[in-house]
Amino acid sequence: MHIFTTAAELRAYAEANRRAGRRLGLVPTMGALHDGHLQLVQAAAAECDEVIASIFVNPTQFNNPDDLRLYPRLPEQDAALLAPAGCTALFMPAVAEIYPQPSILRFDFGALERVMEGAHRPGHFNGVATVVSKLFHLARPHAAYFGQKDFQQVAIVRQLIADLSFDLELVVYPTVREADGLAMSSRNSRLSPAARAVAPLLHQVLEQAAGQVRLGLATDQVQAQALAALAHEPKFKPEYFEVADAQTLQPVTTYETGRSVVLCVAAHLDGVRLIDNVVVS
Ligand code: PAF
Repeated sequence: MHIFTTAAELRAYAEANRRAGRRLGLVPTMGALHDGHLQLVQAAAAECDEVIASIFVNPTQFNNPDDLRLYPRLPEQDAALLAPAGCTALFMPAVAEIYPQPSILRFDFGALERVMEGAHRPGHFNGVATVVSKLFHLARPHAAYFGQKDFQQVAIVRQLIADLSFDLELVVYPTVREADGLAMSSRNSRLSPAARAVAPLLHQVLEQAAGQVRLGLATDQVQAQALAALAHEPKFKPEYFEVADAQTLQPVTTYETGRSVVLCVAAHLDGVRLIDNVVVS
């Protein structure tokens, strides 16, 4: 597995492989890899000749300095996991390599980003769109792999690809869960044992709410009951619980057959911010 730290190295690698007619897959990550990331790498390896993984804790997408400071960083461990999963090139740039100067370009995704993560984390999707665009330009992938756990991020990246005519396929894989239902996340490693023990409640509440949506319960009631169920556990501080159209991400009031809706939740658990979602279609 090649390890690149400069944009020039990654660009040269991508150009050479493109010229040789090889299919390139890109798995962008912020490291502290778990099985969810590794399954994306394995999927890319099954479909592509070269798999580029990036590990970059992107400062511009953090609106909370403590979250950025405490974000787990395990570069050696991550590198050791990637090669056996099928990664052929790892890009691990320093911040100055990606941002040699502060970027002044601003993205506006309209209604898509005025809800949920975008509403609660100002500037977050601007940072995501900036770094993902840079990675697409440098790695020139034929396909890019993302996890459905970041549902709104996937919608934003889909829009980015369409609006900027990136010539690549967006591949989205289902959320990978622990045996007790907790969605895998790099932030889970920051949970204390006591917090980890109650963390599966997030997914349980989502599943229960999904059942209520399917039965036709009004979504404001579903939302109120879900937030109450979370608040019942004192360690949880719910941030939002939304029932939204799976395409537009705008709130829906009732579920109609044939429509795809997504239930999205964000909550702080002992100071660690967790998100999860379930699609009802
Ligand atoms: O999902 C993530 O880990 C990040 O948002 C991404 C896509 C790597 C951009 O920094």
